[in-house]
Amino acid sequence: VPTQLYDAHGRPLEYVRLAVTDRCNLRCFYCMPEEGIAYVPRQELLTYEEMERVVAVLAGLGVRKVRLTGGEPFVRRGLLPFIERLGQIPGIDDIGLTTNGVLTAPHVPTLARLGVRSVNLSLDTLDRSRFRRITRRDELPQVLDTLHALLAADMQVKINAVVMDGQNIEDLVPLAELTRDLPVNVRFIEEMPFNGGSHEATPATLPWNHRRIRQHLEDHFGPLLPLPAAPGATASEFRLAGHAGRVGIIAAYSRTFCGSCNRLRITAEGGVKTCLYDQGVLDVRALLRGGASDDDLRDALAAAFHTRAADGFEAEQRRPVHQLSFESMSTIGG
Ligand code: GTP
Ligand code: 5AD
Ligand code: SF4
Repeated sequence: VPTQLYDAHGRPLEYVRLAVTDRCNLRCFYCMPEEGIAYVPRQELLTYEEMERVVAVLAGLGVRKVRLTGGEPFVRRGLLPFIERLGQIPGIDDIGLTTNGVLTAPHVPTLARLGVRSVNLSLDTLDRSRFRRITRRDELPQVLDTLHALLAADMQVKINAVVMDGQNIEDLVPLAELTRDLPVNVRFIEEMPFNGGSHEATPATLPWNHRRIRQHLEDHFGPLLPLPAAPGATASEFRLAGHAGRVGIIAAYSRTFCGSCNRLRITAEGGVKTCLYDQGVLDVRALLRGGASDDDLRDALAAAFHTRAADGFEAEQRRPVHQLSFESMSTIGG
């Protein structure tokens, strides 16, 4: 029976986000520069066996949900057999995936067979030329194929749309319109400064914060009807009268939801982050490759989680260097 670990602020550890690669086949300008980022050499990535071992140890500390992120998870070979093995770890009962959808469509039936029930799909616009401008690649049709394949397989689908001043504001209403007939959850996300040096860090006042996003939607649709929040949720969720799906707003930069944060992150090279905004507090790869026992791993992970900051602002304060925009979301895993 796993023990449930809590941090010093009384928040449980229930959810781990695992970046299986830092590589990506898109070049979203809010995540990395056109030329890409300095990718980690293969031997410095955690192997699937190492990740499996870490997840098993975390399951013993109460983790029951794993979300695979990247970079783009499907650019790493061997992802599907890895998902199958994760599903066999006692205590892990929820495996999700966050993907850009470029390579995903053909794998949807296998994902369903492996018990993956929920997929979060990054999609910032429904307009092909804006998609090309934002991602610097012309892959919108493939992403839409993935959306339809997911719905056909009865997956729970969340669409993640980063809201960018001057880039996709005209897409907010059309994206929210998807929820009229489709049972999807469309979530609008405040832009965060982790863009790999692609552009200036977020200004002190974010032009499109969660309040303005909500107002913009209400100006078009009328009142958004709040839905109860799931524990540990990042999104405030709303219903639109007569719509099959729902809309959500993620105050990722304003950090309004830290009080119920239940997660830990592991980067592709085995850096442990107890908050999206911290600089990494533990090198689990060094432990794994230095011969640590499962008990050693467990103690180190529990200690790291216990000392985490109260919220993303304190985590940011604790960083030695304050240049968040030097990091890329592709490395952190979102
Ligand atoms: P579910 O597991 O389905 O609830 O999804 P999620 O919102 O946890 O994860 P997803 O990968 O879909 O991320 C959606 C957006 O929320 C991304 O922009 C993430 O960077 C952001 N996000 C996820 N977790 C956190 C977090 O702990 N803190 C902050 N500030 N943002 C987060
Ligand atoms: N700000 C907010 N969200 C971001 N994502 C990537 N970079 C950023 C950023 N700078 C989102 C992706 C993906 C999720 C994991 O994080 O769109 O859906
Ligand atoms: Fe969790 Fe930090 Fe997040 Fe806040 S900004 S919800 S803390 S990881």
